[in-house]
Formats: sequence, C-alpha cells, structure tokens
Amino acid sequence: MSRADEKLAQKLAEQAAAGRSRRRRTVDAREPGGVRVTVEGRECLASGARFSRYAHGDVAALRSRLAWIGATARTLVMTDGVFSMDGDIAPLRDIAAASQETGAQLLVDDAHGFGVLGATGAGAVEEAGLGVDDVPVLMCTLGKAVGTFGAFVAGSPVLIESLLQRARTYIYTTALPPAVAAATRESLRVMRDEPWRRSRVLEHAARFRAGLADLGLPSLPSRTPIQPVLVGDEAAAVSASSALFEQGFWVPAIRPPTVPVGTSRLRFTFSASHTATQVEQLLAALQALCASGVLRPAASA
Ligand SMILES: Cc1ncc(COP(=O)(O)O)c(C=O)c1O
Repeated sequence: MSRADEKLAQKLAEQAAAGRSRRRRTVDAREPGGVRVTVEGRECLASGARFSRYAHGDVAALRSRLAWIGATARTLVMTDGVFSMDGDIAPLRDIAAASQETGAQLLVDDAHGFGVLGATGAGAVEEAGLGVDDVPVLMCTLGKAVGTFGAFVAGSPVLIESLLQRARTYIYTTALPPAVAAATRESLRVMRDEPWRRSRVLEHAARFRAGLADLGLPSLPSRTPIQPVLVGDEAAAVSASSALFEQGFWVPAIRPPTVPVGTSRLRFTFSASHTATQVEQLLAALQALCASGVLRPAASA
C-alpha cells in the first residue's frame, strides 16, 4: 500500500484501500426505471456473471430480485451511495440488510458522498452508521470532492489483495503519479481539518432548494450538492443551460441516455468554494429565466 492508500484506509477505519489510477469508463444507459449501467456492469457480463438490475433505490425491488435470482454469497449488490444524476442518497441501511439476509455482498459506489457526507466526510456509508461488515466493498473516486484524480476501493485485506492480483482494470496499468497521490493526501488533511467545508456545501444546497421551492421549479428530493431541476424536454434543457452559461453559471443539461427520456434536467452542483452570494445570484438568474419563459415552474410545466 502506498502512503496515500494508508491514509485512505485510516480515514475510512477500514482494513485496507487500493488506489486506482485508471479512469472508470462510465457509460450511462438508463432503463425506463432509472437504473444506471456502467462499463463495469458490461465487464461483469463479459466475465460470465449474470447481471440483473433493480429500480433506483427501491429496496422492495431489490429484495424480489435477490429472491428471484436465488442470491448467494457470490451475489454482488451494487448501488451508488449518492445517485449521480438525481442527488438522492440510497437507503443504504435497508439495502445492506436486504443483502445480508440473503448472504449477498454489497458494493457501494460513493463517488458523490465521499468528502461531503458523514461526520468525518467518509461518505454516505459513514452517515448511515454502517461499517465494513455491512458494506464489504466501498468504492469512491478522488475526482469529485477530493479534487484530484483516480479512485479507491476499501474493504477487507483479502478483497484488496484479490483486486491487486486479479482486477482487470488494475493490472498492467500505470499507477497514480506520485504528485496526484501527494495532492490526495493533502485533500484528506483538508477533509479532516476543515469540516466547515462540508457544512457549507450542504448549506448552499439547502438554500438553493428553498429558493427552487419559492420559484416553483421542479426539483428532486436531494439534500446533497447535486441539485437537479427537471425540465423534461431536451431542447429546453439545453436552452436553459446556455442562458445560464451566458450569465456566468456553468450548469450542464443532462439528457437521455444519461437520464430517462422526458426527464432532461439542469444539474446544479455546489462546492464549498461557492459563496452564499453566488447562490443568491444563481437563484436570481433562475427567476429571470422563469420570467422570460425559458424555464417553466412546475404548475405550468
Ligand atoms: C457514481 C459514479 N461513480 C464513478 C464515477 C467516475 O468518477 P471518475 O470520473 O472520478 O472516475 C462517476 C462519475 O461521475 C460517478 O457518477
């Protein structure tokens, strides 16, 4: 383990962590039910594993899937911790319970929770009060809140050693450059020493949501820094995104196939570096877009 890996393991109070340098190639192919399929999912298929999807954060659907496939200890349940396009947090306690009841293993991809949620910033799993027994495989990227590059997997020493020896996307790949590992260590120090950053980014999200409610704009139930505003139509989402860009706000329009048809949206993402004034300016810009008809409040959508 490198020193950055050890820092991560220490941070997560897990037994081990394996850094990953290779970018995860994510392809979103949402089903109408709103389920993300990634290239890892496709590699699962290539490995001969059977692949079965359940609806977004739906524990009842997961339970029936686990029963239907006859889950065993060789079954791996995978979920985002914070869903990347909706911003909501997976019901991890219930997902962990459903997995444990059938003996299945659980993998949480907490790309968007790590550094943001939990008492020490360790993410959605920490916030849910879960540990390595509940979530045997925790995967987080370093390219979001950590602000560097790469990713890591945290879990038991056996898991980590298995990945080091056998993971297709790990072997014969150049390791993280030392400069990136050093920057990651510094980010972990900031996470530890400056918890106000987590409070601040969540305050921005809360203030923004309250502002959306005042404007009547259709949001999704997210309290994380990912705050979507549903627009519906693809062209309308692009127009709104362009209008915001002209005013100095970079807000991507997310469209199919990343999200289901008819649910194109503006995806607002807040950072601790934003100021409260900027959040107000953004809300004022949205109000102007509503007034000019570029965006339509929920009642008239
Ligand atoms: C849930 C989730 N996992 C993993 C990733 C990949 O992150 P990275 O680009 O840092 O490898 C993303 C990218 O947005 C994501 O949303």
